[in-house]
Amino acid sequence: MSEDFYRIRRLPPYVIAEVNAMRAAARAGGEDIIDLGMGNPDLPPPPHVIAKLAEVAAKPDAHGYSASKGIPGIRRAQAGYYARRFGVTLCPETEVVMTMGSKEGLASLATAITAPGDVVLAPNPSYPIHTFGFIIAGATIRSVPTTPDENYWRALDRAMVFTVPRPSLLIVNYPSNPTAETVDLAFYERLVAWAKANKVWVLSDLAYSELYFDGQPTRSILEVPGAKDVAVEFTSMSKTYSMAGWRVGFAVGNKQLIAALTRVKSYLDYGAFTPIQAAACAALNGPQDIVETNRALYHKRRDVLVEAFGRAGWDIPVPRASMFCWAPLPPALAHLGSLEFSKQLLTHAGVAVAPGVGYGEEGEGFVRIAMVENEQRLRQAARNVRKYLLSMGVNTPAQAAG
Ligand SMILES: Cc1ncc(COP(=O)(O)O)c(C=O)c1O
Repeated sequence: MSEDFYRIRRLPPYVIAEVNAMRAAARAGGEDIIDLGMGNPDLPPPPHVIAKLAEVAAKPDAHGYSASKGIPGIRRAQAGYYARRFGVTLCPETEVVMTMGSKEGLASLATAITAPGDVVLAPNPSYPIHTFGFIIAGATIRSVPTTPDENYWRALDRAMVFTVPRPSLLIVNYPSNPTAETVDLAFYERLVAWAKANKVWVLSDLAYSELYFDGQPTRSILEVPGAKDVAVEFTSMSKTYSMAGWRVGFAVGNKQLIAALTRVKSYLDYGAFTPIQAAACAALNGPQDIVETNRALYHKRRDVLVEAFGRAGWDIPVPRASMFCWAPLPPALAHLGSLEFSKQLLTHAGVAVAPGVGYGEEGEGFVRIAMVENEQRLRQAARNVRKYLLSMGVNTPAQAAG
């Protein structure tokens, strides 16, 4: 009996799992680990949403199979969100599908539209499903940069000239996980024109649509006139409403892609539990103060983290969006590499971060720090980091100044 499974062979060991296992072992041993590793919100959803979940779950007829593509109300609610937030009109019947988290949506769409040997353009570094969703579906990945500068456009053009078969689709994800980089509408305008000229589908992952700082709202690719001809966009309720465990996401946009995703999903699942769908409607249609509150809270955490880690001797670029800092290793410790550095931080500082190499080879030299603990814990993390850096001979700025 062969255990050489084709798809499993194509999935390398999950680097981030190594650090996760160490963190779990340390915690099991009674250590207090400040966990800035996973992008798992530490906040609850709004009370009215939880109340709606309980109310609908109490109904005897709410426990059967639900609608795979989402009940009509949730698709209308998502169309309402796009209309109010981005000024984009969507048909809830043909241009919106609910997914069980955007991760499932991306993976199912990959299954629906990818044939073995297709070439997919994906950013490196990237959130793992952007590559592995397509690798599982049999595709070949050609990496393009994550940073949206001129080099990015050169890489796209080169990919079209030098890749056989020609790439069939491109993944974009801004605000980026892991780099937290953002784009403006001009980027999407150029992208839509490029995709049309090159006959390439665009899949935009907008999981961090509402976590933007400094008063610069995140834009949607669908704001570009004609974007629906070539693009779909994924959004998630996981971060916006702190509902990560609920598994609620959406794909919207191009009718052909939405139909393909809806079709595959109809074979794979029966949709999210109806009370979850009803409560997700309440979140999208109800008061939105939680969105503003969460944004302000992550903003504050960002400022605390960057300032406290800076004072500890570790300069971290200020992210303009998302719930992550993408931090270059302190130069004196760059030789350790991101995995070993993350392990040392866990062991000697009690702080868990995600090694950049887990997001692709271009992530080496960085770690991703998630702002998922409160300000006090972030300050404590910075103090622990400071002791560790001092033990490694890295001076704080105050010491360096004399
Ligand atoms: C960029 C990005 N896309 C998608 C997801 C998955 O989100 P969901 O919970 O909707 O599956 C994440 C989760 O961290 C993410 O960072």
